Amino acid sequence: MLKLRSDYRPPAYLVTAAYLDISIFDDQTLVTTRLELTKNPDAGTGANEMRLNGRDLELKRLSIDNIEIAKDDWPLDDAGIHLTNLPENCVVESLSVCHPETNTTLEGLYLSGGMYCTQCEPEGFRRIGFYPDRPDVMTIFTVRVEADIAYPKLLSNGNLVETGAASEGRHFAIWHDPHPKPSYLFACVVGDLECAEDSFVTASGRDVTLHIYVEKGNVGLTGHAMDSLKRSMKWDEDRFGLEYDLDLFQIVAVSHFNMGAMENKGLNIFNSKFVLADTNTATDTDLHRVESIVAHEYFHNWTGNRVTCRDWFQLTLKEGLTVYRDQCFSADTHDEGVQRADDVSLLRAAQFPEDRSPTAHPIRPESYREINNFYTATVYEKGAEVIRMMAAFLGRDGFRKGMDLYFKRHDGSAVTCDDFVAALADSNDIDLSGFARWYEQAGTPHLLVKRVDDGKSTITLDFEQTLPETAAKTPRNPAPIPIRLGFLDAAGHPVATSLTPDGVSADEHVVLMQKATHRQSFHAASGAGDVALTPSLLRNFSAPVVLADDLSAAERLHLMAHDTDRFNRWDAAQTLAADAIIAAATGGNSLDADAAALSGAYRNILGEADLLDAFKASMFALPGVSVLESRLNPADPVALYHARMRLQAALGDGLSDIIAAYLKDDVRHALQASDGGRALLNALLMLGVAASSKQAEDIAAAQVLDANMTLSQGAVMALNNSASAARDVGLSAFHDRWQDNPLVMEKWFQMESMSVVGGTVARLKTLMQHPSFDPNNPNKLRAVLGAFMSGNPVHFYAEDGSGFAFIADCLIDIDGRNPQISARMVLPLTRMSAYDDGRKAQMMAALRRIDKAKPSNDLAEIVEKALAANS
Ligand code: BES
Ligand code: ZN
Repeated sequence: MLKLRSDYRPPAYLVTAAYLDISIFDDQTLVTTRLELTKNPDAGTGANEMRLNGRDLELKRLSIDNIEIAKDDWPLDDAGIHLTNLPENCVVESLSVCHPETNTTLEGLYLSGGMYCTQCEPEGFRRIGFYPDRPDVMTIFTVRVEADIAYPKLLSNGNLVETGAASEGRHFAIWHDPHPKPSYLFACVVGDLECAEDSFVTASGRDVTLHIYVEKGNVGLTGHAMDSLKRSMKWDEDRFGLEYDLDLFQIVAVSHFNMGAMENKGLNIFNSKFVLADTNTATDTDLHRVESIVAHEYFHNWTGNRVTCRDWFQLTLKEGLTVYRDQCFSADTHDEGVQRADDVSLLRAAQFPEDRSPTAHPIRPESYREINNFYTATVYEKGAEVIRMMAAFLGRDGFRKGMDLYFKRHDGSAVTCDDFVAALADSNDIDLSGFARWYEQAGTPHLLVKRVDDGKSTITLDFEQTLPETAAKTPRNPAPIPIRLGFLDAAGHPVATSLTPDGVSADEHVVLMQKATHRQSFHAASGAGDVALTPSLLRNFSAPVVLADDLSAAERLHLMAHDTDRFNRWDAAQTLAADAIIAAATGGNSLDADAAALSGAYRNILGEADLLDAFKASMFALPGVSVLESRLNPADPVALYHARMRLQAALGDGLSDIIAAYLKDDVRHALQASDGGRALLNALLMLGVAASSKQAEDIAAAQVLDANMTLSQGAVMALNNSASAARDVGLSAFHDRWQDNPLVMEKWFQMESMSVVGGTVARLKTLMQHPSFDPNNPNKLRAVLGAFMSGNPVHFYAEDGSGFAFIADCLIDIDGRNPQISARMVLPLTRMSAYDDGRKAQMMAALRRIDKAKPSNDLAEIVEKALAANS
């Protein structure tokens, strides 16, 4: 059934208090929901009716105002209980049974590695007990949890108010959460867990106890997450004046989890992969990821929990905003330039392809069949970009004023994206109505910038925006596009310009494009004489668009070397590399000349003393196949992959002397001391091995075993695509070193799957029989199958279609157990619009086979969109 954004109706009843009783037994769990209801004054004159959602629940008892309703009279249908003719105020109580012990969906209450845990967002609560499971019903929860004493820890949201013994070897705990919340933020965890404890004093002097619960034996791996949590709490106070609002903050790490982590009020639940980390078992990138996810979930306490979403169409209200906040936190904590490059890389690799695909949608979708399918790069990453544009427009203080007003107006309620934009606009007395287009329209705008012939010290730019048609068929009107830009002279220095011949000069301007076309002249300050101006456009990626300009390769090399905007230095390298790879993949044999020019530029970058190693490392990251593809139609991912490898080897050759110097023991050991240095070493090792340097291969082989995880994984990755004995030896050494560590084994699976030389379909089938593989664990599925699809184009897109067929088989199997995961993992199979007819036909055949196998609602929504878009 299709749900429409326009169908929203306020609930007829509100819940003024909710009392839950959850009693866990080995073979079933009993759940009582006791709800105090009152008619919603804002609901108009609707009927006195109310829906209590329930899914896969067995109702045992139902009463209204303590009057039992006879089983024959239960108003039950597929979606739950439909109450009618209710009094204005009443108490509804239900008793039902659910089965966590057989729940493989990892939604609702389920068992993960011997502990019970919950995942309720977005609509999982209805798998636990009967309840109005919608985010605009917020209430105060009191929860009693009871289980066998074999499960010593009984956790839920808020504050612990009572514990005690129950009957025959059982015990209970009662929790009270004073903050009204929707059901999706409910959580409960029951298990035999170890706890790391710390505390944080808030700006106003309140003492908050911090607990991180993990499986026995893992407390030693919680230090980084705890430290990240404390720094996040401090940052939100400093930057937004937001303090934590309970006396206890708990995080629980679980091994079976569909997503990364979940912001349940006062009781965040994390995929253990994003909690358990030290430098031995996790890479620097993993540690950054742990930090940013801890921050993200913590930041939701205000953006998501205190102020939540009115309905799920508004998801980007909390996710786009919270991603923007965690990006800002990471930029402040590490390096802005590196962070921006990382964030834009993700946007281009994941969101831009979504906008070109059958599942394209605006950041605020208009319709859905299954809301779980809308936790997407569009809602998250593009959503964050839209907030970023408005924040940049208002400036730091203006944005802060807007956030302050947002909380002042809406604390404790469930609101819309329009409410958020209104708070930003009203607090600054500014019109932001144009930005509504960014919420309504799918697709990535293309921005064309051309230079108009001018006198020497004046430059005129013509801007044109177009929005390609997408599968979502949303309107395609011009949207406000802020274009930050500046100019460099021939020596690479910034040239101040003004927008009128005698206006105020500045090194940088922001052109806010409002219409389809725009023309703007820039006048170099008098006295600058005749200067050749190189434009640096869309600085810091000031809008989420595809930029096409008329710069020459020489001008891009100039920007790469000198731009004051570090993002544009990075992006110039991205474009140069992409141009070279695409030219090589499509026949023009220009790789040598391009690689020579790029090598020269990289050589200078390496020599820049005051550029961070971390930034140099990100300059070396070549654009991936999903980014390269976007510029071709038809696109051949296999040819692009090979051309990308050839560029890597050519750069390794062109820089062989300097790589050799960096890899010498003393230089290498000095670099190994910092995370930036390690990233740079890994990048150079990759190029060295690609160019078959014996020195690089030997160092990589040794590093697999004798270094920390960043260097060890970097070494295996460098070796992973060379058909050498060193690769096999390295991978099996890595395996033997870590076979008892389930999280590190995910890295091994991933590297095996991504290897062009080893990661064949036959090999993947063997991997899935490995003792460390678990078909019910999403991390393991992502490590083997996800890595194959995103990181092994040669075998996934194999000519004979064997990669697609294999994935289709796996997805049909997974869908029977975990529809959220099958629906997510099918996406690469649907992204075929730019492929040739042969490959398209194979992908379509795989999708048709899935469709015939009676897929879940989740998977069917995606597959059927893809079939419709391509038929
Ligand atoms: N609220 C989500 C978790 C979630 C997503 C629950 C979908 C249920 C369905 C959480 O805040 C989140 O966004 N997590 C991200 C990580 C984050 C750093 C972007 C995730 O799990 O990938
Ligand atoms: Zn989130």
